[in-house]
Amino acid sequence: MWEKVQQTVNYLKEKNSYTPSFGLILGSGLGNFPDDIDVEFTIPYKDIPNFPQTTVAGHHGNLIFGKIGNKSVVAMQGRFHYYEGYSMQEVTFPVRVMKFLGVEHLIVSNASGGVNPFYRVGDIVLIYDHINFMPQHPLRGANDERFGPRFVNMSEPYSHEMINKAKEIAVELQIDVKDGIYLGLQGPTFETHAEYRMVKILGADCVGMSTVPEVIVAKHMGMECFGVSVITDISDEKSVATVSHKEVLEAAAKAEPKVRMLIKELIARY
Ligand code: HPA
Repeated sequence: MWEKVQQTVNYLKEKNSYTPSFGLILGSGLGNFPDDIDVEFTIPYKDIPNFPQTTVAGHHGNLIFGKIGNKSVVAMQGRFHYYEGYSMQEVTFPVRVMKFLGVEHLIVSNASGGVNPFYRVGDIVLIYDHINFMPQHPLRGANDERFGPRFVNMSEPYSHEMINKAKEIAVELQIDVKDGIYLGLQGPTFETHAEYRMVKILGADCVGMSTVPEVIVAKHMGMECFGVSVITDISDEKSVATVSHKEVLEAAAKAEPKVRMLIKELIARY
Protein backbone atom coordinates (compact mmCIF):
# COMPACT_ATOMS: atom_id res chain seq x y z
CA MET A 1 0.00 0.00 0.00
CA TRP A 2 2.78 2.44 0.97
CA GLU A 3 4.61 1.98 -2.33
CA LYS A 4 1.40 2.28 -4.34
CA VAL A 5 0.45 5.51 -2.60
CA GLN A 6 3.93 7.00 -3.14
CA GLN A 7 3.90 5.95 -6.79
CA THR A 8 0.53 7.65 -7.36
CA VAL A 9 1.61 10.75 -5.46
CA ASN A 10 4.83 11.01 -7.47
CA TYR A 11 2.89 10.63 -10.70
CA LEU A 12 0.50 13.43 -9.75
CA LYS A 13 3.32 15.68 -8.56
CA GLU A 14 5.08 15.25 -11.88
CA LYS A 15 1.89 16.23 -13.72
CA ASN A 16 1.37 19.45 -11.79
CA SER A 17 3.18 21.44 -9.18
CA TYR A 18 0.24 21.92 -6.84
CA THR A 19 0.47 21.38 -3.10
CA PRO A 20 -3.16 21.35 -2.04
CA SER A 21 -3.94 21.92 1.62
CA PHE A 22 -7.66 21.14 1.34
CA GLY A 23 -9.05 17.86 0.00
CA LEU A 24 -12.66 17.51 -1.06
CA ILE A 25 -14.75 14.42 -1.62
CA LEU A 26 -17.71 15.67 -3.59
CA GLY A 27 -20.71 13.51 -2.84
CA SER A 28 -24.34 14.47 -3.14
CA GLY A 29 -24.83 18.14 -2.33
CA LEU A 30 -21.56 19.21 -3.90
CA GLY A 31 -21.73 17.62 -7.34
CA ASN A 32 -21.37 20.95 -9.11
CA PHE A 33 -18.76 22.30 -6.73
CA PRO A 34 -16.02 22.13 -9.41
CA ASP A 35 -17.69 25.26 -10.86
CA ASP A 36 -16.52 27.10 -7.72
CA ILE A 37 -12.91 26.05 -8.20
CA ASP A 38 -10.44 27.99 -10.34
CA VAL A 39 -9.38 24.79 -12.01
CA GLU A 40 -5.71 24.38 -12.85
CA PHE A 41 -5.62 20.74 -13.78
CA THR A 42 -8.11 17.90 -14.19
CA ILE A 43 -7.15 14.28 -14.50
CA PRO A 44 -9.53 11.34 -15.02
CA TYR A 45 -9.23 8.50 -12.49
CA LYS A 46 -8.54 6.11 -15.36
CA ASP A 47 -5.27 7.93 -16.07
CA ILE A 48 -4.03 7.80 -12.48
CA PRO A 49 -1.88 4.77 -11.62
CA ASN A 50 -3.31 2.57 -8.84
CA PHE A 51 -6.53 4.58 -8.58
CA PRO A 52 -9.72 2.54 -8.34
CA GLN A 53 -11.82 2.83 -11.48
CA THR A 54 -15.36 4.15 -11.53
CA THR A 55 -17.71 1.33 -12.45
CA VAL A 56 -20.98 3.17 -12.79
CA ALA A 57 -21.65 4.44 -16.30
CA GLY A 58 -22.27 8.18 -16.43
CA HIS A 59 -20.63 8.84 -13.06
CA HIS A 60 -17.88 11.40 -12.92
CA GLY A 61 -14.41 10.18 -12.12
CA ASN A 62 -11.96 13.08 -12.03
CA LEU A 63 -9.37 14.46 -9.72
CA ILE A 64 -9.42 18.26 -9.91
CA PHE A 65 -6.64 20.58 -8.77
CA GLY A 66 -7.22 24.28 -8.37
CA LYS A 67 -7.82 27.26 -6.12
CA ILE A 68 -10.58 28.62 -3.95
CA GLY A 69 -9.65 32.12 -2.90
CA ASN A 70 -5.96 31.82 -2.10
CA LYS A 71 -6.24 28.17 -0.95
CA SER A 72 -5.07 25.25 -3.04
CA VAL A 73 -7.51 22.36 -3.21
CA VAL A 74 -7.75 18.90 -4.69
CA ALA A 75 -11.25 17.55 -5.26
CA MET A 76 -12.56 14.11 -6.03
CA GLN A 77 -15.41 14.41 -8.49
CA GLY A 78 -16.98 11.03 -7.85
CA ARG A 79 -16.29 8.81 -4.86
CA PHE A 80 -16.02 5.09 -4.29
CA HIS A 81 -18.61 3.29 -2.17
CA TYR A 82 -18.08 -0.01 -0.42
CA TYR A 83 -21.42 -1.30 -1.77
CA GLU A 84 -20.09 -0.99 -5.32
CA GLY A 85 -17.74 -3.86 -4.56
CA TYR A 86 -14.52 -1.95 -3.81
CA SER A 87 -12.47 -3.08 -0.85
CA MET A 88 -12.15 -0.65 2.05
CA GLN A 89 -8.54 -0.10 0.93
CA GLU A 90 -9.77 0.95 -2.51
CA VAL A 91 -12.52 3.17 -1.09
CA THR A 92 -9.98 5.06 1.02
CA PHE A 93 -6.95 4.98 -1.31
CA PRO A 94 -7.57 8.52 -2.62
CA VAL A 95 -7.52 9.87 0.95
CA ARG A 96 -4.07 8.35 1.47
CA VAL A 97 -2.93 9.98 -1.77
CA MET A 98 -4.36 13.35 -0.73
CA LYS A 99 -2.41 13.24 2.52
CA PHE A 100 0.91 12.83 0.71
CA LEU A 101 0.00 15.52 -1.80
CA GLY A 102 -0.04 17.85 1.20
CA VAL A 103 -3.70 17.88 2.26
CA GLU A 104 -4.27 18.73 5.93
CA HIS A 105 -8.02 19.34 5.90
CA LEU A 106 -10.50 16.90 4.37
CA ILE A 107 -14.02 18.04 3.50
CA VAL A 108 -16.60 15.38 2.72
CA SER A 109 -20.21 15.70 1.62
CA ASN A 110 -22.99 13.16 1.37
CA ALA A 111 -26.73 12.61 1.25
CA SER A 112 -28.43 10.90 4.15
CA GLY A 113 -31.75 9.79 5.52
CA GLY A 114 -32.96 11.74 8.54
CA VAL A 115 -34.03 9.95 11.70
CA ASN A 116 -33.87 12.97 14.00
CA PRO A 117 -37.54 14.06 14.28
CA PHE A 118 -36.54 17.73 14.00
CA TYR A 119 -34.96 17.25 10.58
CA ARG A 120 -36.71 18.11 7.32
CA VAL A 121 -35.89 17.16 3.73
CA GLY A 122 -33.27 19.57 2.39
CA ASP A 123 -31.73 20.28 5.80
CA ILE A 124 -27.98 20.78 5.87
CA VAL A 125 -26.36 18.88 8.71
CA LEU A 126 -22.85 19.52 9.98
CA ILE A 127 -21.65 16.09 11.07
CA TYR A 128 -19.99 16.25 14.50
CA ASP A 129 -19.62 12.54 15.12
CA HIS A 130 -20.27 9.22 13.45
CA ILE A 131 -21.09 5.60 14.23
CA ASN A 132 -19.22 3.06 12.14
CA PHE A 133 -21.69 0.34 11.19
CA MET A 134 -19.88 -0.70 8.04
CA PRO A 135 -19.23 -4.45 7.82
CA GLN A 136 -15.48 -4.03 7.40
CA HIS A 137 -12.97 -1.66 8.93
CA PRO A 138 -10.59 0.23 6.62
CA LEU A 139 -7.72 -0.17 9.13
CA ARG A 140 -8.16 -3.93 9.53
CA GLY A 141 -4.91 -5.81 8.92
CA ALA A 142 -1.26 -5.09 9.57
CA ASN A 143 -0.69 -1.45 10.47
CA ASP A 144 1.88 0.59 8.57
CA GLU A 145 3.28 3.09 11.08
CA ARG A 146 4.39 5.34 8.22
CA PHE A 147 0.71 6.19 7.71
CA GLY A 148 -0.31 6.36 11.36
CA PRO A 149 -0.68 4.50 14.65
CA ARG A 150 -2.28 1.10 15.19
CA PHE A 151 -4.85 2.49 17.61
CA VAL A 152 -6.37 5.72 16.41
CA ASN A 153 -7.88 8.34 18.69
CA MET A 154 -11.38 9.10 17.41
CA SER A 155 -12.46 11.59 20.08
CA GLU A 156 -12.78 14.37 17.51
CA PRO A 157 -13.40 12.79 14.11
CA TYR A 158 -14.89 16.05 12.81
CA SER A 159 -12.94 19.18 13.69
CA HIS A 160 -14.72 21.36 16.24
CA GLU A 161 -12.82 24.34 14.94
CA MET A 162 -14.04 23.79 11.38
CA ILE A 163 -17.62 23.18 12.58
CA ASN A 164 -17.57 26.39 14.63
CA LYS A 165 -16.20 28.35 11.70
CA ALA A 166 -18.89 26.89 9.41
CA LYS A 167 -21.61 27.81 11.92
CA GLU A 168 -20.32 31.36 12.07
CA ILE A 169 -20.39 31.58 8.26
CA ALA A 170 -23.87 30.01 8.14
CA VAL A 171 -25.26 32.72 10.45
CA GLU A 172 -23.64 35.41 8.35
CA LEU A 173 -24.96 34.01 5.06
CA GLN A 174 -28.34 33.20 6.63
CA ILE A 175 -28.05 29.52 5.83
CA ASP A 176 -29.92 27.33 8.29
CA VAL A 177 -27.73 24.45 9.48
CA LYS A 178 -28.28 21.62 11.96
CA ASP A 179 -25.70 19.37 13.50
CA GLY A 180 -25.83 15.66 14.02
CA ILE A 181 -24.39 12.17 14.26
CA TYR A 182 -24.09 10.19 11.02
CA LEU A 183 -24.35 6.42 11.03
CA GLY A 184 -22.67 4.62 8.14
CA LEU A 185 -24.28 1.46 6.77
CA GLN A 186 -23.11 -0.61 3.82
CA GLY A 187 -26.22 -0.18 1.63
CA PRO A 188 -27.07 -0.31 -1.22
CA THR A 189 -30.57 -0.97 0.08
CA PHE A 190 -32.30 1.90 1.83
CA GLU A 191 -33.31 1.01 5.38
CA THR A 192 -36.40 -0.94 6.34
CA HIS A 193 -38.72 0.63 8.92
CA ALA A 194 -37.11 -1.54 11.58
CA GLU A 195 -33.60 -0.54 10.51
CA TYR A 196 -34.45 3.16 10.64
CA ARG A 197 -35.80 2.59 14.17
CA MET A 198 -32.56 0.80 15.05
CA VAL A 199 -30.48 3.73 13.75
CA LYS A 200 -32.51 6.12 15.89
CA ILE A 201 -32.21 3.94 19.00
CA LEU A 202 -28.45 3.74 18.46
CA GLY A 203 -28.30 7.51 18.84
CA ALA A 204 -27.71 8.70 15.29
CA ASP A 205 -29.47 11.63 13.63
CA CYS A 206 -28.99 10.52 10.04
CA VAL A 207 -27.92 7.48 8.06
CA GLY A 208 -26.03 6.97 4.84
CA MET A 209 -23.69 4.71 2.86
CA SER A 210 -20.38 6.59 2.73
CA THR A 211 -18.03 9.01 4.52
CA VAL A 212 -17.16 6.92 7.60
CA PRO A 213 -14.32 4.91 5.94
CA GLU A 214 -12.73 8.02 4.42
CA VAL A 215 -12.85 9.92 7.70
CA ILE A 216 -11.37 6.99 9.66
CA VAL A 217 -8.44 6.79 7.24
CA ALA A 218 -7.99 10.57 7.32
CA LYS A 219 -7.84 10.46 11.12
CA HIS A 220 -5.35 7.59 10.93
CA MET A 221 -3.05 10.03 9.13
CA GLY A 222 -3.75 12.98 11.42
CA MET A 223 -5.92 15.01 9.06
CA GLU A 224 -8.59 17.44 10.18
CA CYS A 225 -12.06 16.52 8.83
CA PHE A 226 -15.27 18.34 8.09
CA GLY A 227 -18.44 16.52 6.99
CA VAL A 228 -21.67 17.92 5.65
CA SER A 229 -24.80 15.94 4.95
CA VAL A 230 -27.93 16.86 3.05
CA ILE A 231 -31.07 15.23 4.41
CA THR A 232 -32.79 13.80 1.37
CA ASP A 233 -35.52 11.73 3.01
CA ILE A 234 -37.09 11.31 6.41
CA SER A 235 -37.69 8.00 8.07
CA ASP A 236 -41.39 8.43 8.70
CA GLU A 237 -43.90 5.93 7.34
CA LYS A 238 -44.60 7.88 4.17
CA SER A 239 -41.04 8.77 3.27
CA VAL A 240 -39.60 5.30 3.80
CA ALA A 241 -42.27 3.95 1.50
CA THR A 242 -41.34 6.33 -1.30
CA VAL A 243 -37.60 6.85 -0.94
CA SER A 244 -35.75 6.35 -4.21
CA HIS A 245 -32.44 7.36 -5.75
CA LYS A 246 -34.30 9.94 -7.84
CA GLU A 247 -35.79 11.54 -4.73
CA VAL A 248 -32.37 11.59 -3.04
CA LEU A 249 -30.77 13.32 -6.04
CA GLU A 250 -33.57 15.89 -6.32
CA ALA A 251 -33.41 16.84 -2.64
CA ALA A 252 -29.61 17.04 -2.73
CA ALA A 253 -29.73 19.26 -5.84
CA LYS A 254 -32.10 21.69 -4.11
CA ALA A 255 -29.78 22.14 -1.13
CA GLU A 256 -26.65 22.28 -3.26
CA PRO A 257 -26.31 26.06 -3.82
CA LYS A 258 -26.31 26.63 -0.05
CA VAL A 259 -23.87 23.80 0.68
CA ARG A 260 -21.55 25.13 -2.00
CA MET A 261 -21.59 28.67 -0.59
CA LEU A 262 -20.88 27.35 2.88
CA ILE A 263 -17.95 25.16 1.85
CA LYS A 264 -16.48 27.77 -0.43
CA GLU A 265 -16.45 30.35 2.36
CA LEU A 266 -15.15 27.85 4.89
CA ILE A 267 -12.16 27.05 2.69
CA ALA A 268 -11.50 30.68 1.81
CA ARG A 269 -11.57 31.80 5.44
CA TYR A 270 -10.15 28.83 7.31
N1 HPA B 1 -30.45 5.77 3.86
C1 HPA B 1 -29.19 5.51 3.47
N2 HPA B 1 -28.55 6.26 2.63
C2 HPA B 1 -29.13 7.35 2.16
C3 HPA B 1 -30.42 7.69 2.53
C4 HPA B 1 -31.11 6.84 3.43
O1 HPA B 1 -32.27 7.08 3.80
N3 HPA B 1 -30.73 8.84 1.91
C5 HPA B 1 -29.66 9.18 1.18
N4 HPA B 1 -28.69 8.29 1.33
